[in-house]
Amino acid sequence: MSLTGAMLLTQVSVPQVSVPFSPEQASTFAPHVDALYAYLLLITIFFSTLITLLLVVFAVKYRRRQPDEVPRPISGSMVLELTWTIVPLLIAMTIFVWGASTYFKAYRVPHQAMEVYVVAKQWMWKFQHQTGQREINELHVPVGARVKLTMTTEDVIHSLYVPAFRIKQDVVPGRYTQLWFEATKTGSYYLFCAEYCGTNHSGMGGHVIVMEPTAYEQWLAGGAGAESAAAQGQKLFQERGCASCHQTDPAGQQGRGPTLYGLFGKQQAIEGDGTVAVDESYIRESILDPQAKLALGFQPIMPTFRNQVNEEQILQLIAYIRSLGQPQGGESGGTAQGGGGTTTGPTTGGASPTTERSNPLAPTSPRQGNPSPQLPPRVGQGGAANANRRQ
Ligand code: CUA
Repeated sequence: MSLTGAMLLTQVSVPQVSVPFSPEQASTFAPHVDALYAYLLLITIFFSTLITLLLVVFAVKYRRRQPDEVPRPISGSMVLELTWTIVPLLIAMTIFVWGASTYFKAYRVPHQAMEVYVVAKQWMWKFQHQTGQREINELHVPVGARVKLTMTTEDVIHSLYVPAFRIKQDVVPGRYTQLWFEATKTGSYYLFCAEYCGTNHSGMGGHVIVMEPTAYEQWLAGGAGAESAAAQGQKLFQERGCASCHQTDPAGQQGRGPTLYGLFGKQQAIEGDGTVAVDESYIRESILDPQAKLALGFQPIMPTFRNQVNEEQILQLIAYIRSLGQPQGGESGGTAQGGGGTTTGPTTGGASPTTERSNPLAPTSPRQGNPSPQLPPRVGQGGAANANRRQ
């Protein structure tokens, strides 16, 4: 390359004008999506250019030169046919494999994660932390922690979308969908509803506020007095009389209904034939439509609780049932009893802590230095924070 050519290249690459081509990258997942997107874009540019150039070249080269010119007949070429079939196939397969692996990264939820319940309704997002804090249209999370969202809706389909995290998932009535992310930068990021859901769809948004872990703990402490989701579920469980049929302690005999201790995450044999995994969806179904998949050996005597408990309360009941017989629940006492001081939140059922990182609050990779200003404490926690400082 000539000297002037090299200089020209250097000059071209020097100006650091940042065009907001895509939203900020603020999760571990974002670079993967952007890399794939860049790849698609490059392929598109390459073929658009190639086709346009060939179009022009052929138009000139094979133009009709005399009024009575008759083109030579073409009998076809096997080599050409194979080439333009196999090369695009290979290119398409790279997109497929890359896309699929990126998809699995996004939608295979890790076992060990801080869990947040999300209930959408026209037109707001309601979040509940396992420690009991609730928020509307705002979600506070610590940076570098894996956060798992278990989501449902009280009315129509909505879709949770955080562009800076490159995550989006529909929220569907009567079903739980899950989504996870690990934020890599503190800050405030837009949260959208990405499914047209009625008049105020466009206003159904909010912010995910990513905080330093210490600031996040302060924020959590600000909601002191809030009972954990499991404790609220336990209260409901007593109030609604569930306890008269369902045992919840390890020594409990089977009552009129199955004992719930240690049930979450197991396989349950059902009337008719087969088994069902006891997960969030099965518990929800059993509360609303108890006879849909009746546990084997029990009478169909449980009434439906449809219209008696709302989606948030069902999630609290699930949190309670899940806490029964969980190793963490018994040993640390952190999940079932409210205000136990746990800030990491319980983990999802069925996972052995050794299979994944045991501390979901530890980042998977060292973060780049980005000391964003810490977010101001919420009303009500300033006192506690000051008291700490004085000590
Ligand atoms: Cu909710 Cu659009």
